[in-house]
Amino acid sequence: MSLYHVLGAKQFTRPMLDEIFENTHRMEQVVKDGGSDLYSNKVMTTLFFEPSTRTRLSFESAMSRLGGKVIGTENAAQFSSTIKGETLEDTIRVVSGYSDVIVIRHTDIGAAERAAAVATVPVLNAGDGAGEHPTQSLLDLYTIEKELGRLDNLHVVMIGDLANGRTVHSLSYLLANYKGIHISFTAPENVQIPTYVKKYLDEKGITYEEEHDLEKVVGTADVLYQTRIQKERFTSLDEYEKASGKYIIDRKVLAKMKQDSIILHPLPRAGEIAVEVDEDPRAAYFRQAQNGLFVRMSLIDKCFS
Ligand code: CP
Repeated sequence: MSLYHVLGAKQFTRPMLDEIFENTHRMEQVVKDGGSDLYSNKVMTTLFFEPSTRTRLSFESAMSRLGGKVIGTENAAQFSSTIKGETLEDTIRVVSGYSDVIVIRHTDIGAAERAAAVATVPVLNAGDGAGEHPTQSLLDLYTIEKELGRLDNLHVVMIGDLANGRTVHSLSYLLANYKGIHISFTAPENVQIPTYVKKYLDEKGITYEEEHDLEKVVGTADVLYQTRIQKERFTSLDEYEKASGKYIIDRKVLAKMKQDSIILHPLPRAGEIAVEVDEDPRAAYFRQAQNGLFVRMSLIDKCFS
């Protein structure tokens, strides 16, 4: 299988995911072996219109470890010609001529699709506003398989800002490829999971519930997927304050979790997982961030092969 654009999680089937993850295992070995010069003739452009630590740097590290070169801007909103009024489409048309793959993070839902519509090289969606973050959900899934040894028969509890959290949208879509999945959506009333995500899960026969009481679901969870309340996406401080500080994973929550369960978080965190949790073996979020490197190497490899 080769990939072209990566725009949303719905594009992935289970056989595709199996192949990407098998390739990801190979990429872990490539890193252990000191990297490769396989793509020394390739150039990646990273265009980030929103801040990022993990996604941009792991993509850039992934390309470097495969021998490729990286150009780009970490603040495209200010330091690209967008500030002079250039359209996204014109920027992408031009950048297509400079590179072999474009990684884009943008404030607007659907921006990656707009980019792909005019690009002459693959476009990888690194997050489009409150829309999707498909490469994050791939590394989330890879982490679950690596940590728990399976992707079927899971109770996944998604917590926090499920309205604006693009990673939970993409992860819900990917989980719909598996059997015996049950999702609990545990969120403040004003940032619950969007109806369009629930509709997709209904179509795929995935069971879910909206459960505001974390205590009721924590004891049977295989995966607690915590997320940050995304202050930057609220138009009113009052609405943000209604949502913030409601669900914090601390020692008391840990005590109620199964021994063979894990805590994931796409990061960054802003207080919703207490630092005291970090030492617990079930705290998998830093291992999850590391897996982003391997998964993104695998995706780049699939784009070029
Ligand atoms: N998980 C994630 O997307 O992190 P960054 O915003 O740091 O890229």
